Amino acid sequence: MTSTRSGPGEIVPEAESAPPEALELVLVTERELWMDGPPHELFARLRSECPVHWTDRLTEFPEEAGFWSVTTQEDVHTVSRDWRTYSSELGGITAATVGFPLELMRAMFIGMDPPKHDRLKMLFQAGFTPKRIAAHEDAIRAIAVSVLDSLHGHETCDLVTDVAQPVVSRVIGSFLGIPPEDDAMWAELMNSLLGAGDPDLNPNGIPDVSARLLPEVFARCQGMIAERREQPTDDLTSVLVHAEVDGAKLEEHEIVMGFFLLLAAGNDSTKSTYCSGMRALMEHPDQRQILLEDPSLVPSAVEESLRMFPAFAHFRRTATCDAELHGQKIRAGDKVVMWYASSNRDESRYEDPDHFDVRRNPDHQAFGAGGRHFCLGTALARLELRIMFEETLARYPNMEMAGVPLFAESPFINQLKTLPVRL
Ligand code: HEM
Repeated sequence: MTSTRSGPGEIVPEAESAPPEALELVLVTERELWMDGPPHELFARLRSECPVHWTDRLTEFPEEAGFWSVTTQEDVHTVSRDWRTYSSELGGITAATVGFPLELMRAMFIGMDPPKHDRLKMLFQAGFTPKRIAAHEDAIRAIAVSVLDSLHGHETCDLVTDVAQPVVSRVIGSFLGIPPEDDAMWAELMNSLLGAGDPDLNPNGIPDVSARLLPEVFARCQGMIAERREQPTDDLTSVLVHAEVDGAKLEEHEIVMGFFLLLAAGNDSTKSTYCSGMRALMEHPDQRQILLEDPSLVPSAVEESLRMFPAFAHFRRTATCDAELHGQKIRAGDKVVMWYASSNRDESRYEDPDHFDVRRNPDHQAFGAGGRHFCLGTALARLELRIMFEETLARYPNMEMAGVPLFAESPFINQLKTLPVRL
C-alpha cells in the first residue's frame, strides 16, 4: 500500500473518526496517540503496510504543514546519511516548530548543515570521545551515589524527579560550569521548553516559549557569557564563548543556543532512558534478576533500553529537492520525520522487537542513524546510564512501582514525567 497525499490546505474531515485500517487518514502526531508513549501498534502497521507515510496536518497547529513519516531502520538510515537531500537547516529539526523561532534552531549545530555544522561540532568532539568521557567516571558515580544515598530512610520516591533529574542535571551542569544551586532552575526551564506541549511540564502552553522561557534562557546565559569573556574557564560554556569559526567569534545568540543545545540534550535524554529502563526492569523481574546475578550485563541492558525507549521519538529533516524514498515521491520543501521510536522496533532487524531482553545488546538508532548529526553525547549517555543502573540495582534490588507512571504528552520527547516507586 502507498499513501496518498492531499493537496495543500485540502481538508480530510473523516480523519479522526476513520477506521483503523485507513492508514492514509492517520495523523501520526495527534496528541491522543501519544498519551501512553509512542503508538507502537500504529508504527508496526506503518512499517509493514506504508513505511513512508504522509500525515496531512497537525490539528493542534493548523499553520503547520504535514509531513512524511519514515518508519523502517533502512529508510531512516538513508535519510540520516543524505544531508544534501535531507537538510537539518532548511526548516527545523522537529515535526512541529510552532513557537520556536527558526533562526534560533539554526543557531544550534543540530540545526545546521555542513560545512558550518562540521566546524562547530568539531569544537566539542574531542571532549566527548569515549576515552575523555571515561575520565569522568568517578565524578559521575559520586553524583549518582550522593543522590541515591539521599533517599536513605525513604520508603517511596519519584524516580524521575528525585533520582534521574538531579543526577543528569549535575552531570551536564558540571560540564557547562553551572553552579549546583542553579541545577533545579535550569532543569525546569529545559523541561518546559522541550515538553512545551505537556500541561504539567509547561503549564502556560506553547506561547510561553517565546514570551517567557526563551527570554529567560537568554537573560540567565548572558551573565555566564560575560563572566567567561572576562575570565576564561575550562568548561564547555567557555569553549562556546571563545570559539572561532571561519575566523570569527560566535554571535551571542549562537553562544546561548549552543549552551541550550548541550544543556537540553544532557538534561533530558539520559533521564528518560534511565526511567523507562528502570520501569521495564520492575515490570520484568526475571530480566532484573538476570542483571542482579550478572552485573556485567548492565551495558547490554543499557543498549536494550536505548533501543526500546529512545529519548527522542523523532528528529526531522526538510527535503532540499525532489526525491524518492521507498517508492514515495518527496517534494522539495517537504518535512521528512525519522521515527527512531519505530525504527528501533523494526521486525526485519530484531526478533520479537517488543520484548525487553537485557541480554540482547542490540545495535539501534536511538542516537541517530549514522549521519552527520549522530549524537555527540553517546559516550557520556552510556556511561551515565551504566552507572545509574549499577548503583540503583545495588541499593534497591527490589524496587517496585508504587503508582501509575505518566508519559510526557509529546511526539518528540519520549519520556516519563513521573514514575512513583517503592524503594
Ligand atoms: C539517552 C541519551 C541520548 C540520546 C538517546 C540522544 C539522542 C540523540 C539523537 C537521536 C541525536 C541526533 C539528532 C538528529 O538526528 O538530528 C542527538 C544529537 C545530539 N546529542 Fe544526543 N542523545 C543522548 C544524550 C546526549 C547527551 C548526554 C548529550 C550531552 C552533551 C547529547 C548531545 C547531543 C548533541 C550536541 C547533538 C547534536 C549533534 C549534531 O547535530 O551533530 N546527547 N542525540
